[in-house]
Amino acid sequence: MAVDLQRISTVDTEPGELPETMAAWVIRQEREGDPVDAFQLEEIEVPEPGAFEVIVRVMAAGVNFNNVWAAMGNPVSVFGYGDHPEYGHHIGGSDASGIVWKVGPGVTRWKPGDEVVVHCNQTSYEDPEVHGLDPMAAPSQKIWGYETTWGSFAQFTKVQAQQLLPKPANLDWAEASSYGLTYFTAYRMLFNRAQLQAGQKVLIWGAAGGLGVFATQLVAAAGGQSVGVVSSDEKGELVKQLGATDFINRNEFSGMMRTGKEDKDAEKERFKVSRAFAKRVKEILGESPDVVFEHVGQATFPTSVFTVKTFGKVVICGATSGYTLDFDVRYLWMRQKEILGSHFANAWECNLANKLIETGQIRPVLWKTMPFEDVATAHQLMKENKHSGKIAILVGAEAEGEGKTAEGPGAIRAEVGN
Ligand SMILES: NC(=O)c1ccc[n+]([C@@H]2O[C@H](COP(=O)([O-])OP(=O)(O)OC[C@H]3O[C@@H](n4cnc5c(N)ncnc54)[C@H](OP(=O)(O)O)[C@@H]3O)[C@@H](O)[C@H]2O)c1
Repeated sequence: MAVDLQRISTVDTEPGELPETMAAWVIRQEREGDPVDAFQLEEIEVPEPGAFEVIVRVMAAGVNFNNVWAAMGNPVSVFGYGDHPEYGHHIGGSDASGIVWKVGPGVTRWKPGDEVVVHCNQTSYEDPEVHGLDPMAAPSQKIWGYETTWGSFAQFTKVQAQQLLPKPANLDWAEASSYGLTYFTAYRMLFNRAQLQAGQKVLIWGAAGGLGVFATQLVAAAGGQSVGVVSSDEKGELVKQLGATDFINRNEFSGMMRTGKEDKDAEKERFKVSRAFAKRVKEILGESPDVVFEHVGQATFPTSVFTVKTFGKVVICGATSGYTLDFDVRYLWMRQKEILGSHFANAWECNLANKLIETGQIRPVLWKTMPFEDVATAHQLMKENKHSGKIAILVGAEAEGEGKTAEGPGAIRAEVGN
């Protein structure tokens, strides 16, 4: 059945009752590839909530890099994971703001009509790791809307009750949908994994991107200093506005990027540029960084390990440029540096971090708010690195400004892209 795009913001049932079908952007295995081809609009049944589950009417959804990977089926296809084998489709989307529409058996903290944002970690409450170690350590741990279907690029989404957080009243629906995944990830990377302390210095790759805009604000809020790496001076000005001491335009040091195909001489030349980059970082911060905030991977990792201070930490949560990393390990052991893996955040960290949004101490950084029909285009823009900050998609909301119920600073507008 064709989807009527004029009716995306209309729902024919009241909270407590679900319609039979909904409009959803769906990826299917046979069309994995560029986001503009992989995502297609379909009419899909609305799922019922199981025990401790909630169906949320999506008012707006946030765009993340994980559904660029899901579209491409790279580095792995999502269809082997989570509930995909059961349903055979992938409805992506790991960030949402919305209204609780129906709750499943056992849910007591939330009721139909509550306004919420959603964090993207799912785990089974039966795993012992959830009750003493960390939900991120549980064997059942999955990222909703990436490793599971029923994500937020649809009129309704199915989530676990523990994923819900109160929607900050000072934000409209679009702003509230935009920050969760990257902001909560950056929070855990800096405060849990890297144990950032006031007075410390941080090098942030992709500082005007989804993770970077929050890492930059968090370092400043924690009493640290940062230098942000970006690919244009306009993005650099944004990063300074967010609290960075200064920025480095990576185009000035393009020779430092590792391809993995360098021969001995080419690697020698590459390393020379890495060394010059590390010197610039030191000039800006006054000393080498205590922490390097990594997610670029192959291209930058050898430079990160070299640049971080003796006894410093490289914390990494992704690998946009490639996941096979190599680096000169002598700089790691002789200078007793640490490499720390990090992945999203647990519900407790998400709740703590969300309070900083409610008070306006950390603000979403929105590049564009786009209509529902632009979900595929938005992911294509992200794949091509045309954006800065975050992209929000209007679903139940018809315009920016809707859903804001209290005074407050709202989002910072990122007016720069590539
Ligand atoms: N494990 C997790 O929980 C988790 C959570 C969030 C994200 N991630 C992963 O982390 C990565 C970044 O996510 P994001 O949301 O921040 O993406 P994003 O919005 O695209 O930002 C990434 C930034 O990295 C920079 N960049 C891209 N390619 C680069 C390259 N080859 N060399 C140097 N810089 C490059 C770009 O900035 P400039 O062009 O300005 O330099 C870009 O703005 C993705 O791979 C994502 O899947 C993982």
